[in-house]
Amino acid sequence: MAFLSRLGQSLTAKEIFDLVKDDLRLVEKDLSVESVAGVESATAIAAHLQSGGGKRLRPILLLLAARMTGQVNPAVIHMGTVVELIHAATLIHDDVIDMAETRRGRPSSNVVWGNHTAVLAGDWLYMQAFQIALRERNFHVLDMLINLTQMMVEGELLQLERLGKIAVSEADYMQLIDRKTACLFSVCAKLGAHVGGAEESAETRLGDYAWNLGIAFQLVDDVLDFTAREKTLGKPVGGDLREGKVTLPLIYALQSASAEERSQIARVLSDRSYDAVSFASVLAMIERHRGVARVRERAQHFTDRARAIINTFPDSPYQRALLAVTDLVIDRDS
Ligand code: IPE
Ligand code: IPE
Ligand code: MG
Ligand code: MG
Repeated sequence: MAFLSRLGQSLTAKEIFDLVKDDLRLVEKDLSVESVAGVESATAIAAHLQSGGGKRLRPILLLLAARMTGQVNPAVIHMGTVVELIHAATLIHDDVIDMAETRRGRPSSNVVWGNHTAVLAGDWLYMQAFQIALRERNFHVLDMLINLTQMMVEGELLQLERLGKIAVSEADYMQLIDRKTACLFSVCAKLGAHVGGAEESAETRLGDYAWNLGIAFQLVDDVLDFTAREKTLGKPVGGDLREGKVTLPLIYALQSASAEERSQIARVLSDRSYDAVSFASVLAMIERHRGVARVRERAQHFTDRARAIINTFPDSPYQRALLAVTDLVIDRDS
């Protein structure tokens, strides 16, 4: 393989993907088999989401963790399915809560099927993930997944409590993204390691690595919400603030904003639209206060930590892939 001769150089996205391509194909197959419900609408919603794209970053992380510290056995493939199903269920519920209209470049399931059906389909997918996990008869796995689910629900609850509020602190924000995003990343890496046969200390270190990666991922997601293009992102730009969410680029900008700038943000939050204050002027205000640059620096800090943890593992293609994933998370545009 080409990258073996390029020791010390970082892997490209394609090289990372190629390492787990065959494993991922099995996860994909398993996902379609396991997403068939006894009622047509749940099956249709799962298929709508799965065929809409998605980076499959969580199963990729799980598979790389398994390959680096142990092996990929059938149980690891099933765990890849479990994490992608949990991710899908949370996206369906999240879009209902956020009243989102687009997901993965398509109308979101709440728009196509309505809130009631979408909530129930999300529940079905959640429970399907637990059914699959239960087959392993492994309490440690169930323990992680139940704890994760409660954390993710807490994340959405915290988000709801803070919705529409301008006074959100950096600490509040970090608490939220820990629960809503980083915990799932961490569980992916731990599950891959555990089910692949790694020893406990490797599982713990991989969990810490992926937690830091997940924090960076959400920081970048919240930057992209301001800076990306809708066509690439697959969801509308400026959506967070319009939905009432004050994220870190804005929290930083508000720390040094004038009273006038503050009141403009308050206006968007109360209107839930950019009719009175344009998105361009919000973006310009964030740029004036270096909001985006500062959040990117924070994200870099977390990926530096992630890389330091991976560097405690011996060199291998998978170890290098996990190192390189940190750059992909920072440099991504979707
Ligand atoms: C979206 O996650 C939800 C967040 C945590 C921001 P992804 O950006 O990984 O979504 P897909 O799976 O690629 O669509
Ligand atoms: C992340 O929340 C989604 C979950 C972890 C459930 P967001 O609301 O920020 O994600 P997007 O922007 O809708 O993808
Ligand atoms: Mg959302
Ligand atoms: Mg978001």
